[in-house]
Amino acid sequence: MSEPVIRRTERADFVASSDPALQASADRGEVNLLSYRELYHLWERQQWSVQDIDFSRDRVDWHERISPDERFQRMYGLSSFFVGEQRVTAELGPMMRAAPTEDMRIFLATQIADEGRHVAFFDRFYSEVGIFEAEGVQERLAEAEAQVNPSFHELFDEMLRERVDRLASEPEDLEALVEAVTIYHMVLEGMLALTGQHFIIAYNEEQGTLPGFVEGFSNVARDEHRHVAFGSRFLREMAERDERYRTAISRTLEKVAPVAEQVLRPHWYEEGMPLFGYSLGEVRAFALKALERRLKAIGLVAVS
Ligand SMILES: [Fe+2]
Ligand SMILES: [Fe+2]
Repeated sequence: MSEPVIRRTERADFVASSDPALQASADRGEVNLLSYRELYHLWERQQWSVQDIDFSRDRVDWHERISPDERFQRMYGLSSFFVGEQRVTAELGPMMRAAPTEDMRIFLATQIADEGRHVAFFDRFYSEVGIFEAEGVQERLAEAEAQVNPSFHELFDEMLRERVDRLASEPEDLEALVEAVTIYHMVLEGMLALTGQHFIIAYNEEQGTLPGFVEGFSNVARDEHRHVAFGSRFLREMAERDERYRTAISRTLEKVAPVAEQVLRPHWYEEGMPLFGYSLGEVRAFALKALERRLKAIGLVAVS
């Protein structure tokens, strides 16, 4: 694990979310999860602006300092994020409507705004840096979509969408909401997004590349910790309320986690190849450690 990343995730504004993955005490089952209202107040204090980011150095780095081979490799992670942010923005509406309390809905409304901002951030990065020839966000998204893995579609367009479609027609189905939050907040955001962010930001900091991207993507990561903190709180309350929901969380994780692991593995990946200077094993271990701490906080994994 590299120095700058440890410093960033120890920053007061990151730790403020109370995401169990950022608390070593979560290994012993000692976590203090924020309430939905406290998470909302944190959102009010953690605003940022896509239009304020300066990508001029990034444009030079991308075209003049990063080799064509490396651009190809970097594109897998970047495009998975760009398309992933678009998918989660689109799917959150029915989940918010199905949330059983007003405090949950107020927080989820802020999360919809965040996810829209994340799409706008990637779109501006792709456009200012000149990554594709395409004009317009739809066209850039279509180009990015050609670069993701088949398991990406299985995860977002089948597993997540199936639950969200169910919630759109049956918003009172709390078990479907528990499954959707398990996929969305625990797996997509907690395991995939925060892991990708950790390694991509660390690699750029080590290489001294893409400073505008690093600035914006660090803000995205801070937002994601807040979202996962919401998911941890929600799932802990549901697990405490009914054994049926505990079972639903475990059953969903068993089905979804193996597909998520395939998304961490680029389609061009060969065994032993480093990913941003790390092995695939290290990347997996990071994702699993974060999941384990959150599951302890939810009460699904016994504290050893
Ligand atoms: Fe996001
Ligand atoms: Fe998010």
